[in-house]
Amino acid sequence: MDFRRLRLKRNMRDLVRETHITIDDLIMPLFIKEDMKGKNEVSSMPGIFQFGEDSFLDEVAELIELGIKAVLLFGIPKLKDSCGSDALDENGLIARSVRKIKERFGDEILVITDLCFCEYTDHGHCGIINPKLKTVDNDSTLEISAKQAIIHAKAGADVIAPSGMMDNIITTLRKALDENGFKHIPIMAYSTKFASSFYGPFRDAAESAPSANENIPKNRKTYQMDYANRNEAVRESIADMNEGADILMIKPALSFMDIIREVKDATKLPLCVYNVSGEYSMVRAAAQNGWVDYNDMMVEILVSFKRAGADMIISYHSKDFAKLVKGK
Ligand code: PBG
Repeated sequence: MDFRRLRLKRNMRDLVRETHITIDDLIMPLFIKEDMKGKNEVSSMPGIFQFGEDSFLDEVAELIELGIKAVLLFGIPKLKDSCGSDALDENGLIARSVRKIKERFGDEILVITDLCFCEYTDHGHCGIINPKLKTVDNDSTLEISAKQAIIHAKAGADVIAPSGMMDNIITTLRKALDENGFKHIPIMAYSTKFASSFYGPFRDAAESAPSANENIPKNRKTYQMDYANRNEAVRESIADMNEGADILMIKPALSFMDIIREVKDATKLPLCVYNVSGEYSMVRAAAQNGWVDYNDMMVEILVSFKRAGADMIISYHSKDFAKLVKGK
């Protein structure tokens, strides 16, 4: 037996390679901030920026030029309140931004909108707080989520991606979209989302850290999943599939390869993984210290998600990967 003869020559290795990553597999997150000009680098995410309303279209143009096919939008509004009113306004930040992208670029870029309230609420939690239960109130948050989805769809969003982990969110959104003439809009469910320390840097980027007060603790453990639970992780995704989700998602990704494989095998639905902020920042920090090679590590990580069973990847590396492929 000689396992190594298939590894001896580079062209041979390419011929027997089982998994490939291309720009087509990637989705780039984009942070748009109201009342800010130009762009502002996120201190805990070197290379990632918040963009003002005067500058994000140029960034989208650059991404399209690099061959990126899809973006995931996050909005940071100026005014935050207890129920996230900006997200419920047809002229709110995300609605305006989606319209502008679609006016200028049409179908050149797929626009996915993150549907959640943590960036829009003054308490930083993912919906309306229920002070009695000391968590986000499931059913009143479902109601405002349906409104938010219609606003995104009317503005021209191509895909709606609910990330708040409310029960029955997919049934609720599917019904609302269908009844309002948006049967054709797919739902990408954040179906298995763990309460994770890997979201830390994102909360700087989106200015959405959960706060503590007498009504709710300073974390999302009461509505996001326990990372120790594998069976429950699979059940959550199957439930969203049964409610009609078009695409499922595992988030975070890097510490959850077992879940990625198991959900893919159990559902056979298109599967997205979210290579989250903390996963990105770890690689950046190590590379900045000269401890690892940034590009090599990025490619290895992205390939590993596909090997585990992902069809598509939301990653802050997307632009860097596209640059690497295009030699820019
Ligand atoms: C909104 C949301 C979060 C992320 C994506 N959508 C934050 C959270 O759940 O706390 C995190 C993404 C990342 O870390 O890159 N709920």
